[in-house]
Amino acid sequence: MQTKIVKEDIENIAKFLKEDCKKLNGKTVLITGAAGFMGSYFCDVIAYFNENFLEKNCKIIAVDNLISGNKSKISNLLKKPFFKFIEANVSKPFEIEEKLDFIIHAASIASPIIFRQNPLETMDSNTLGTKNLLELAKKNKVEAFLFTSTSEVYGDPSPENIPTKETYRGNVSCTGPRACYDESKRFGETLCMVYFTKFNVPIRISRSFNVYGPRLGLHDKRVLPDFMLNAWNNQNIVLLSDGSPTRGFCYITDSIRGHFKVLLSDANGEVFNIGNDLEEISILELAKCIVKTSGKNLEVEFKKSKDKYYLIDNPNRRCPNVTKLKEFFSDWKPEVMLKEGLERTWQYHLEVEV
Ligand SMILES: NC(=O)c1ccc[n+]([C@@H]2O[C@H](COP(=O)([O-])OP(=O)(O)OC[C@H]3O[C@@H](n4cnc5c(N)ncnc54)[C@H](O)[C@@H]3O)[C@@H](O)[C@H]2O)c1
Repeated sequence: MQTKIVKEDIENIAKFLKEDCKKLNGKTVLITGAAGFMGSYFCDVIAYFNENFLEKNCKIIAVDNLISGNKSKISNLLKKPFFKFIEANVSKPFEIEEKLDFIIHAASIASPIIFRQNPLETMDSNTLGTKNLLELAKKNKVEAFLFTSTSEVYGDPSPENIPTKETYRGNVSCTGPRACYDESKRFGETLCMVYFTKFNVPIRISRSFNVYGPRLGLHDKRVLPDFMLNAWNNQNIVLLSDGSPTRGFCYITDSIRGHFKVLLSDANGEVFNIGNDLEEISILELAKCIVKTSGKNLEVEFKKSKDKYYLIDNPNRRCPNVTKLKEFFSDWKPEVMLKEGLERTWQYHLEVEV
């Protein structure tokens, strides 16, 4: 579904990429996880390129098994001539009849509570799924393959490694409750690098830091939508930690602009952090900002989670160093700060509700 806020977001992203998008003229892009938060933005931005900038349409093949996504996110695209939706599980081998030129692999459960409920499915999409897609990339001799990895590959970084650079090797538990996600993303990255070095598949890897915005469902159970859901339901915001861990939240437009820059560049075999390095805030401050955004008279409460694994291996600070991204793409920088991003996200929910 495209609301006014989403349309503005898409237009902003697309206009920023007006020159870069020429590479997609007449091409075919496979997007996995297309019915998810980020995947649906990838699809909409290419649709905008088609309808505004490109001479020949770029065909979008959108794949999703709907395990955590929803077709309503791409409902505006389903009837477009350049758009094809395939309901499929990327963890099982599948064939695409079209010749592919680009692949964005964004299929993975990404919400900690949901991936802990579905650990095997999470591991499969990041490992078997990534391998299946790399095979497709190799067979089709694609121009670029983008793997959407995560800052979680760094685990809980040591203080001297914060802000965290791409070269940091991580401090990750391979047996803890988050390992199904963190470790499978790490292995997914290894697969990408092996296909790059062994078969010359032009992979590139993005490591996202806490992306949020419209279309991140209020029931997704990640911390930001969880707090918004409290406020939406006129309930006090419930913190299940002491609120001291910090994060740098990145609004969706800044993240997607960075992802397309990486996809449409020549940065074969490169890894990029993508996130907001300008604002690092505590979870308590986030809760207070959301109360303010809602305009409601709510308070912040502290409770203990009934889930004994809730805070295990939860990093204390997550803060990106995005120097590499800025050096490769001098026109990219985070532009939407938390106050504005939260207001846009709240506005989106109001639009969807009416
Ligand atoms: N949003 C963030 O803050 C963030 C941070 C770091 C990394 N990422 C990564 O970015 C990508 C997109 O994340 P998102 O926030 O849009 O998540 P999301 O849950 O909104 O979207 C993921 C989509 O993938 C689909 N999917 C999952 N497993 C699948 C499978 N086996 N086959 C086909 N489809 C499958 C889901 O149904 C969903 O539509 C993921 O790879 C995620 O790990 C996101």
